[in-house]
Amino acid sequence: MLVEKNVPLQSCNTFGIAARAHTLVRVRSAQDLQALLADHRLARQPLFVLGGGSNIVLTGDVKPVVLKMEIKGLRLLEETDKAWIVEAGAGEVWHDAVAWTLAQGYPGLENLALIPGTVGAAPVQNIGAYGVELQDRFHSLVAVDFATGRPFTLDAAQCAFGYRDSVFKHAAPLAEHEGAGLPRGMGLAGRAVITHVRLALPKAWRPELGYLDLERRRQELGVQQPTAQQIFDWVCEIRRAKLPDPAVLGNAGSFFKNPTVTPEQCQDIIARDPKIVHYPMADGSIKLAAGWLIDACGWKGKTVGRAGVYEKQALVLVNRGTREDSVTGGEVMTLARAIQTSVYERFGIRLEPEPVVV
Ligand code: EPU
Repeated sequence: MLVEKNVPLQSCNTFGIAARAHTLVRVRSAQDLQALLADHRLARQPLFVLGGGSNIVLTGDVKPVVLKMEIKGLRLLEETDKAWIVEAGAGEVWHDAVAWTLAQGYPGLENLALIPGTVGAAPVQNIGAYGVELQDRFHSLVAVDFATGRPFTLDAAQCAFGYRDSVFKHAAPLAEHEGAGLPRGMGLAGRAVITHVRLALPKAWRPELGYLDLERRRQELGVQQPTAQQIFDWVCEIRRAKLPDPAVLGNAGSFFKNPTVTPEQCQDIIARDPKIVHYPMADGSIKLAAGWLIDACGWKGKTVGRAGVYEKQALVLVNRGTREDSVTGGEVMTLARAIQTSVYERFGIRLEPEPVVV
């Protein structure tokens, strides 16, 4: 277990925000975690789990002990009639894990190519893109309980996956509030850390082309039955064209979740804004494209201080500062609040931020 003090975090968050960790522990194995939790000085303090830092906004130095998850490993755990079960260490880079599965001949993760971040963070917000969510390929995960140091396994139902949501995003309900309309599930935020994720990659694989951008690409290229590798390549091309590369322009991906409304609310908005981008959901609600709402309010390409709205996708906020003079988390949140206010004033919809604000 490697314990470091006063550690710069600028290269540990994809926004490129300059901030420091008072204490940072590099966790490279389950043993490192046991050692950390057995160390009373460290384990008594609040803990903050950091993966690839691709979904956080740092608004100052981080006082809780930062657990930098660096557990590696990719292996075929099991092969059943229906699927290959692959296990990946939480510290693996997500995109590298996707590429590895395809190289082994296990399809299923291709639509999730190029999503920034680590494997361990993927279940926390149930990452999703181009018609596939992590939960569609999820088998189980192994996590370690901070209180006892014991590992435990969760299946998909126990993870309580939702749109960009899981049990790891919710605080534990206080005993006296249990069942009183608090978040579903156990509420594991701040109580456990994911060490390994197991993915079930289907043998009866079919391409998932429901997303318009992908279907358009298939037609343009005149491909009848694309392979998983082709879809992987198309997803990479589409993402590179639309989303900024965090290595070049700091960002945390989509900054807000796509909101859902009732069909009545949607009709009301369509009556005023017929062009609004909306998708009916299986449960009868309607999902609206937050990027469209922000764009319609005129934010695309705007800059406030050193925080900006990306010129090709209004849902992405970017760092317009430099490495030496980077945007602050405060500036990002000021811009985010201004966007929320104008979307609320025009459409009556409250946008909910997607990244974790630290
Ligand atoms: N749109 C605009 N103006 C914009 C941005 C978007 O009019 O500035 C319109 C587009 O024309 C399109 C619609 O909004 O019709 C949806 O845009 P897009 O296809 O880019 O997808 P999104 O809904 O904005 C979601 C995910 C992305 C994911 C893509 C592809 C969320 C919050 N975001 O974006 O995920 O890559 O779909 O599946 O669900 C992320 O979570 O960080 C992320 C990048």
